[in-house]
Amino acid sequence: MALVLGIETSCDETAVGIVDDRKLLANVISSSVAEHARFGGVVPEVASRAHLESMQQVIKQALADAKVGLNDIDAIAVTAGPGLIGALLVGVSSASALSLALDKPLYGVNHLSSHIAVDSLDNEKKLTPTIALLVSGGHTSLLKVNNLVSDIEVLGATIDDAAGEAFDKVARIMGLGFPGGPIIDRTANDGDFAKIQFPRGLSSSSDLINHRFDFSFSGLKTAVSRYLEKSADYKKADVAASFQEAVVDVLITKSISACKESGIDSLVIAGGVAANSRLRQLAVDRCNAAGIKLSIPPIQLCTDNGAMVAALGSLAINHGAKPSQIGIEADSAAAIAQIIW
Ligand code: KG4
Ligand code: ZN
Repeated sequence: MALVLGIETSCDETAVGIVDDRKLLANVISSSVAEHARFGGVVPEVASRAHLESMQQVIKQALADAKVGLNDIDAIAVTAGPGLIGALLVGVSSASALSLALDKPLYGVNHLSSHIAVDSLDNEKKLTPTIALLVSGGHTSLLKVNNLVSDIEVLGATIDDAAGEAFDKVARIMGLGFPGGPIIDRTANDGDFAKIQFPRGLSSSSDLINHRFDFSFSGLKTAVSRYLEKSADYKKADVAASFQEAVVDVLITKSISACKESGIDSLVIAGGVAANSRLRQLAVDRCNAAGIKLSIPPIQLCTDNGAMVAALGSLAINHGAKPSQIGIEADSAAAIAQIIW
C-alpha cells in the first residue's frame, strides 16, 4: 500500500491527484483552457506559464483534499510524455524537486497508459488482459493491454486526425467554439443522429483488409465541411449529432471486433472523448448485446487529470517497477509502448 501523488501537465490542465493504492483521495485540476479559447487551440507558451503559476496551489489543494501532509507521500508520479514539451517540463521538474526534497521515489509515466490506468481506481475487478480504446485530443488507438505497466500492444491507430481533434476541428468549422468535444456533445442532444449519413472512415471491406483496427477522421471532417457549404437549410444540432454518430459508430464497431477477434471479452474506453455521452451510451448498448464487459471511467476522470498519473504510479509500485532516475527527460512524442521511464 502506498500513498502516491501524481502530477499531470502535458497540455492545458495543471492537475494533481493523490491515491492510496487503488483508492482515490484527491483530484485537483486547474485548467488554462479559457486563456486559449480565443486562439481556437492550446497555445503551448501560455499553457507552460499557467502550469508554473498554478502548480504550488494545486499541490496544496490536493494534499488538503486528501487530508494528508507532504511528508506522508510515499512516491511521486509524473507524466513524462507525450505532450507539449514546455508543459511537460514544468511537471517533470516539479515532481523531481519533490522527489529530491522528500527523498521519495519518482515514477515518470506515459500519459496515454495513464488514461487507461485510471480505470483501476476504486475498482476491485481484474484489469487485464483487456482491449482498450484510447480516444483523446492527440491520440486514437485500439490496444491489447496484457499488463498496464509492462505490456501494451497496438492493434491499430488513426492514420490522420485523432477523434478529439476531429470534434475540435468540426466544432470550429461549425463556429461552435473550443474545445469542440463537449460543445458538440451538448449541441447534438437536440439533434437527429440519423439525419445525415456521414462516411464511416476505413470501414469498407477493402479498407478493412489493410486497416482492420485503424481509424481515419479527416474524410469525415471534409464531408461535414462540404455539407455545410452546399446546404442552405440545416439544423446545427442535426449536423453535430450525425457527425458524432459517425465517429462513435466506427470507434465502437472496431473495438467490439477487436474483442471478438482476440477472444478477450473486456473493453476499457479511456481518454477525453470517453466523456462523450453518445459514445458512452452506444458502448453500453453494443457491449451488452455482444456479451462484452465494458468499463469507462467516470466522466471527470476521462479528460486529463492527476489521479490517472497517480493510479499508474501506484500500479507500477505494485508491479515492482524500478523508480525513474532523477533527471529523466520529458519526451513530447513518447510512444505508448514506453510506459515507465
Ligand atoms: O484526454 P484529453 O483530455 O487530452 C488529451 O490527452 O488530448 O482529451 C481532450 C479531447 C479534446 O479533443 C476534447 O474536445 C475531447 O477530448 N472531449 C470530448 C468530450 N469531452 C472532451 N469529445 C467528445 N465529447 C465530449 N464530451
Ligand atoms: Zn489526455
